[in-house]
Amino acid sequence: MEKVEVKDAKGKLGVLIVGVGGAVASTFITGTLSVRKGIGIPIGSLTQLATIRLGKRYENRFPKIKDVVPLAGLEDLIFGGWDIFDENVYEAAKHAEVLKKEDIDIVKDELEAIKPMPAVFDQNFVKRLHGTHVKKEASRWELIELLREDIRRFKAANGCERVVVMWAASTEVYIPQSKEHDSLAAFEKALKEDNKEAVSPSMCYAYAAIAEGCPFIMGAPNLCVDIPAMWEFADKNKVAISGKDYKTGQTMLKTVLAPMLKTRMLGLEGWFSTNILGNRDGEVLDDPGSFKTKEVSKLSVINTILQTETYPELYGNIYHKVRINYYPPRKDNKEGWDNIDIIGWMGYPMQLKIDFLCRDSILAAPLCLDLVLFSDLAQRCGFYGIQSWLSFYFKSPMHAPDRVPEHDLFIQHTILKNTLRKIIGEPTLDYLD
Ligand SMILES: NC(=O)c1ccc[n+]([C@@H]2O[C@H](COP(=O)([O-])OP(=O)(O)OC[C@H]3O[C@@H](n4cnc5c(N)ncnc54)[C@H](O)[C@@H]3O)[C@@H](O)[C@H]2O)c1
Repeated sequence: MEKVEVKDAKGKLGVLIVGVGGAVASTFITGTLSVRKGIGIPIGSLTQLATIRLGKRYENRFPKIKDVVPLAGLEDLIFGGWDIFDENVYEAAKHAEVLKKEDIDIVKDELEAIKPMPAVFDQNFVKRLHGTHVKKEASRWELIELLREDIRRFKAANGCERVVVMWAASTEVYIPQSKEHDSLAAFEKALKEDNKEAVSPSMCYAYAAIAEGCPFIMGAPNLCVDIPAMWEFADKNKVAISGKDYKTGQTMLKTVLAPMLKTRMLGLEGWFSTNILGNRDGEVLDDPGSFKTKEVSKLSVINTILQTETYPELYGNIYHKVRINYYPPRKDNKEGWDNIDIIGWMGYPMQLKIDFLCRDSILAAPLCLDLVLFSDLAQRCGFYGIQSWLSFYFKSPMHAPDRVPEHDLFIQHTILKNTLRKIIGEPTLDYLD
């Protein structure tokens, strides 16, 4: 098998996070800096903990991914980013109330040194937030120029060889794909005409990142890079892009349980998911416009996995409902309930009930770490455009228009590991030996 040419991971890797003052970002940064100090285990991270089987089964070769795949080391990561509030990441981590103060204090000095750059923000896209640390009113095109300068300045000031840009900011209101998104030319025309309806703030960050040759990761369900114009731009500049919406809690469960039903040819009548969540993300998602973006992302999963058109007798009439409820007392500690009505032999009904008492940012943080390291790897491998091998991490994996997205967590996992095998010149597995 032909080995992929991988550029060296030497030098510092800048990690610029949009929404660096949020719960997910501050939890990700705090945990990574702690692990780097030798405190704690990076639980949930494949890049740090998982092994990969290489060769034939009888060879018993199971090295850790990080020992055979040329990933950037944690010691080389330099964090920065943008937020609409100016508090440093130490203050932000305390406000988020995800981690205990004693866990944050371990890396207090490093967190205090991370001060957000002023954000590109438009309240029409996030109704519930009132940003104070934002770039002055300017056209979308001018704002992109400012973001590009931010990236260049950060890179130079910190001596970074490479930079990855990641979105961990609030979910924007739902916008449908329109003619302005259909091609790069149409999109750039909209930018220059300062079309504030078709061009969201997240698109400004994505465009700036791609223009600067930085991989871009979309962690929310925003339309953003999931439009032909951005695919074209990423191809043109040979930049790796991935998204959308980190797959952490209930959707992760869905993408394990739905394949179970289909694999055993069990029927499904209805799936009702609801949760309570009290952090700022929950507050933003309380707005119907932002919820709509999330709902579309969450609803996309089941029908694709179950192939409803191929199996109408099992899945032809599914009632799928998703609700999110803002409930401040729970803060980041989301509780999610799923009621699943399934059908067995001779049409007899059964039910599954799941009560997942999870912690949103604790689940998301290791995904952020893996996505940063794998996106940087992809870029060094010369992979560009949509990185569908990273679908493992997303609720609505981006995909080429002529492809069906892969949602099944374990198939996604196999795709990811086979891509890593390909990168290091090892044969992919067929499980037949
Ligand atoms: N935690 C999870 O399990 C999970 C899963 C999937 C997706 N997400 C998404 O990740 C994102 C972050 O979640 P969170 O819990 O950290 O939310 P959060 O509200 O704590 O953090 C979001 C941060 O983004 C900032 N922000 C908003 N608009 C901005 C802009 N235009 N530019 C710069 N900063 C901006 C906010 O000020 C805030 O600090 C949300 O979109 C959420 O839906 C989270």
